[in-house]
Amino acid sequence: MKKPVSRVLVINDEIRILRLLIKGLNAAAKSIENPFGIVFAGVTTACKALELIEQDGDIQALIIDDKLYSLPNENGNARNLQITALELTQKISALRPELNIYVLIAQEQEGEVVDALFSETVEGYFYREERDYRGIYRILNAQIQEKARTPFYDQLKHYVLMAKDAWHTPGHSSGDSLRDSPWASDFYEFIGEHIFRADLSVSVPMLDSLMEPTGVIAEAQKLAARAFGARRTFFATNGTSTANKVIFQTLLAPGDKLLLDRNCHKSVHHGVILSGAHPVYLDSAVNKKFNIYGPVPKKTLFEAIEQHGDAQALILTSCTYDGLRYDLPPIIQAAHAKGIKVIIDEAWYGFARFHPVFRPTALEAGADYATQSTHKVLSAFSQSSMIHVNDPDFNGHLFRENFNMHTSTSPQYSMIASLDVGRKQAVMEGYKLLARTLELSRELRARINATGVFQVLGLADLLPEELQNDNIQLDPTKVTVDISRCGLTVEELIQELFEHYNIQVEKSTFNTLTLLLTIGTTRSKVSRLYDALMRIARRNSAPRRIYRTVEIPRFTALKYLPRDAFYCNGELLPLLDEKDSINQELTGRVCADQITPYPPGIPVLVPGQVITQEITRYLVGMLRSQKRIEMHGIVHDGYLPCIRLLTAAEEKGLKRLV
Ligand SMILES: Cc1ncc(COP(=O)(O)O)c(C=O)c1O
Repeated sequence: MKKPVSRVLVINDEIRILRLLIKGLNAAAKSIENPFGIVFAGVTTACKALELIEQDGDIQALIIDDKLYSLPNENGNARNLQITALELTQKISALRPELNIYVLIAQEQEGEVVDALFSETVEGYFYREERDYRGIYRILNAQIQEKARTPFYDQLKHYVLMAKDAWHTPGHSSGDSLRDSPWASDFYEFIGEHIFRADLSVSVPMLDSLMEPTGVIAEAQKLAARAFGARRTFFATNGTSTANKVIFQTLLAPGDKLLLDRNCHKSVHHGVILSGAHPVYLDSAVNKKFNIYGPVPKKTLFEAIEQHGDAQALILTSCTYDGLRYDLPPIIQAAHAKGIKVIIDEAWYGFARFHPVFRPTALEAGADYATQSTHKVLSAFSQSSMIHVNDPDFNGHLFRENFNMHTSTSPQYSMIASLDVGRKQAVMEGYKLLARTLELSRELRARINATGVFQVLGLADLLPEELQNDNIQLDPTKVTVDISRCGLTVEELIQELFEHYNIQVEKSTFNTLTLLLTIGTTRSKVSRLYDALMRIARRNSAPRRIYRTVEIPRFTALKYLPRDAFYCNGELLPLLDEKDSINQELTGRVCADQITPYPPGIPVLVPGQVITQEITRYLVGMLRSQKRIEMHGIVHDGYLPCIRLLTAAEEKGLKRLV
């Protein structure tokens, strides 16, 4: 394993003193065990310090002498700004909150300084005159060790290495059932010995319990909360799909109002059914040229918050699958002013805390809850997610009951370990890796555009008209490419990339491809993709006619609570009549299921919603489309595609919303 480097930056404006400090500290680092590769480097100005902190991802900690520092005035004023050491720590922390910052003070200033330094951004202080270099080194080493700790993963590894005989679940018993099997040992060899040895269960008390963590899982969650800026963090082993449902069931009693983007992930819509909430759907803006569903316009959000001040919660997705990120602070402020709790689905944004380009995160913007698919964008196994909580009124007991309702009593321990390690990696080298990812994203964009045929869509291209003034930002790690001039349909292009160039992309619309860059993206992957696109572009094929998908109909009236409608038996009615035309009898009836064409994965109907002709026309259009589209929620009665509807008698027994 490569040995890490941990640079500690010392800031002192007197070069002679600085040199002495660096010499003494580096001598201490050399003379004591140094597992994290700590080295000390010095700068005399705040400007240089901030520059280095931006450039050098190996910086892990800082020691700032308690002086006044000057910085260029951002208002263009010729006179420099004088800032205190504490103000400098705040600037540094705004840039990289994961760094440990210490302040060097004079003994006689202790009283005034220590109070002022009692802030979240400062870890502690050292007396300048003491020159206790070994003491300082030891404290920094301990701090870095604390951040780099992986309590759950360490314990899991420790347990596996103890090689205990298993008289408990799982049935494969550390892989012993498979290892020598003439039928199944291939699986054991392919997956790997340690996956089986680390596949343990709640029968091993030293590995704690995800249902009631008090040991190593609790410790790992605490470290994650600190890393992500949350009061509490919970590890979820069934993805953000479950994380969203857990929060809904905690916050929403049957009938409670919930404001939600209709474009939210299907787990959010399932959460509405489970919680019994009364949803108020907000239509998201649509980019008609590329059929990309953007965020909800700010105006719509503010109006909804104003009109539904009695709502219990608001949930939004930020950033979206296409990388569009809300200007969250004013939206959250408006919701909080009405007492509405804010949940942000950050399934695609779990890395954001670790580079300033992506911040503020939802929690930094004031959200009460954030759910993150750590597995989608950081180094965790699939299904491993985190729930971060900053709600001042958090009901821990209720949350636990709901969390446990959705959590398997046999969670996969490697997933928990991967969340622990994923957090450590994000804290220790997230900044550095994300800086590289951003660099690769810039390179990839420039190279794709240089093909002259494929074009990466910028923020202005992606934003629907009505969002132009909403201060929406684009996450550069999601790269959407316009393919309409390449001479292939999107399906043909995806197939060619897959079969001829060994490339699998993330998703597509009728005329775009979306590529996802993560901390695992390498320069050679970028080159291979560029090479493939360049070869296709050089063929100079005439553009093909591309059939666009029809825009999803706007939301219509909700007649009954989704949960009430969903739990009715209902009856099936076909979408088409005997003449193969749209079945007119569907118009005005109430749907009992959620009908979601996938892609794009946005529900066209939810349980309790009134069906219109426009909706049936859209669904039939989807069914007849050339493109393979999954139609979640459509029931096939023999060959007949049908919708489950409420019967007249069932409607009579339900309470109407409109
Ligand atoms: C916005 C959004 N939220 C939640 C989820 C569900 O996340 P997971 O796959 O971790 O269950 C997804 C999955 O694609 C998503 O796109």
